[in-house]
Amino acid sequence: MATLAAAMLCAGTPAAAQEQLNIICSVQAEWCNLIQTVYGKTTGVKVNMSLKGSGEALAQLIAERANPKTDIWFGGTGDPHLQAAEQGLSLEYKSASLAQLHDWAQAQAAQSNYRTVGIYSGPLGFGYNPELLAKKKLAVPKSWADLLKPDYKGEIQVANPASSGTAYTMVATLVQLWGEDKAFDYMKALHRNIQTYTRSGTGPIKAVARGETTVSISFVHDGPGEKLQGFPVETITPAEGTGAEIGSMSIIKGARNLEAAKKFYEWALTAQAQQFGAAAKQFQLPSNKGAKVDPNVPDFKKIRFIKYDYAKYGASAERRRLIAKWEKEVNSLPR
Ligand code: G6P
Repeated sequence: MATLAAAMLCAGTPAAAQEQLNIICSVQAEWCNLIQTVYGKTTGVKVNMSLKGSGEALAQLIAERANPKTDIWFGGTGDPHLQAAEQGLSLEYKSASLAQLHDWAQAQAAQSNYRTVGIYSGPLGFGYNPELLAKKKLAVPKSWADLLKPDYKGEIQVANPASSGTAYTMVATLVQLWGEDKAFDYMKALHRNIQTYTRSGTGPIKAVARGETTVSISFVHDGPGEKLQGFPVETITPAEGTGAEIGSMSIIKGARNLEAAKKFYEWALTAQAQQFGAAAKQFQLPSNKGAKVDPNVPDFKKIRFIKYDYAKYGASAERRRLIAKWEKEVNSLPR
């Protein structure tokens, strides 16, 4: 309640005439819905929310470029936000609160010429269902290499990198870990063990939690929310090293409700507003240094990270090329 009251103060007083705000929201529905309710109630702004995965959101923004229907894009992995910036789909905007953010969030803003900004971060890893693993007499996978073991045939889910930023983060992580040839050989071998490629990045860990598959490649911060609902799910990060996303936010160029978009943007960068992630049982690390870090947020210090090159893998040509190559060389293979 204290958080809610503080966020209400931050959001300001209700507007006289009803303002509108069209948001594409690329975090999970619970967080999007909470923002819609809280922000709408406290400001009087009518918030229209459209839920889309990161890759799908970018595709929509490209499609509506001539006549944008979106004012702000909240959340989702940073690579497609950088791509949107590069393509001139998002507006340059420098918040006075930037200094309150972690370096990685400020770096995301600087490398896009202030057309996007980091709002959270989270590590990529695996989700697994310990009950199902025990039932099938399978070990907990501890490394990327483990996922290739024949034991896991048909047991692993991951999303499709064309629609999901989570899955694109996996492709970019593997390429940075081993170089492109080895990474694609790995993904071709992994393909044999994949049960299904889902549209959304969170689909696989939800399937793990519900016992529909045994292992997922997921952001590890998506695990605790499922566990809190009572599902048997645990997470682990791979021994060889892994990447992290910089979940981002961008104002859309040509936004019809630009002033409303800027107000929302400022609100979303506050420590109070960023606590709504954990309130909606989503446990990314908030970008505002003053935001309370929930104990369910993964401990970054315990994880072996690669040095992820966000500028390179967020570049349009590189992202498009890697996804097309994945479609042609991996997804088209028989399983
Ligand atoms: C979940 C995660 C977010 C991530 C998003 C990407 O909501 O909690 O941290 O940014 O997925 O979604 P996508 O469907 O694009 O993989």
